[in-house]
Amino acid sequence: MTSKELVASYTYELVKNKFHKDFILGIGTGSTANCFIEIIKKEKPEIKALVSSSEASSNILRSEGFEISELNDVGGPDLYVDGADEVNDKFELIKGGGGAHTREKIVAAASREFICIIDDSKIVKKLGAFPLAIEVIPSARSYVARQIVAMGGKPTYRVGFVTDNGNQILDVINLNFDVPYETEIRLNRIPGVVDNGIFATRKADKVISADSSEARCL
Ligand code: 5RP
Repeated sequence: MTSKELVASYTYELVKNKFHKDFILGIGTGSTANCFIEIIKKEKPEIKALVSSSEASSNILRSEGFEISELNDVGGPDLYVDGADEVNDKFELIKGGGGAHTREKIVAAASREFICIIDDSKIVKKLGAFPLAIEVIPSARSYVARQIVAMGGKPTYRVGFVTDNGNQILDVINLNFDVPYETEIRLNRIPGVVDNGIFATRKADKVISADSSEARCL
């Protein structure tokens, strides 16, 4: 079993007793979330609804016959399970390596509980080594890039990538992460920014991590 498979199955065992007929489960995006999706496909828990944070995850689940509900229709999920690119000891995260962070942040914000599942390579002392994904309205890309440069950041356009919302991504290094939520808020104030991949105003409630031999709650 890989560390991503291990953390997914450990997490499923931990949360499965919470499931009931009125339970709403939010599912994230990426290779670690996909391992959790594999277990959902196999176990088919009896819950009321599944909400997904990306077309990619929705498509995997639909191909197995699962119905995906709209967040607008079902209200807040009881639990959201998703991966991350970096996690610090305050459970603040960088997400968006897959470019799905805007919807991920919406589902996380709407959820009663957010469990982040990672392998140990994602644990960092300080956020910011992983390029920060910023979703931008296409016509604002150059303007936003200039504002980011003025903040000291170095943006790179993720060429050819279109988000589920029809927007573009700038991947940014060299930003100041001394106070992650301040950077999160400051970036989101730039006109044309849809959202960035810092999850500090809505961080994870629980982080579960694994290496190749064991998983544990941090
Ligand atoms: C997608 C994400 C993912 O959760 C993040 O990139 C981690 O992905 P993986 O589990 O494949 O390492 O934020 O936008």
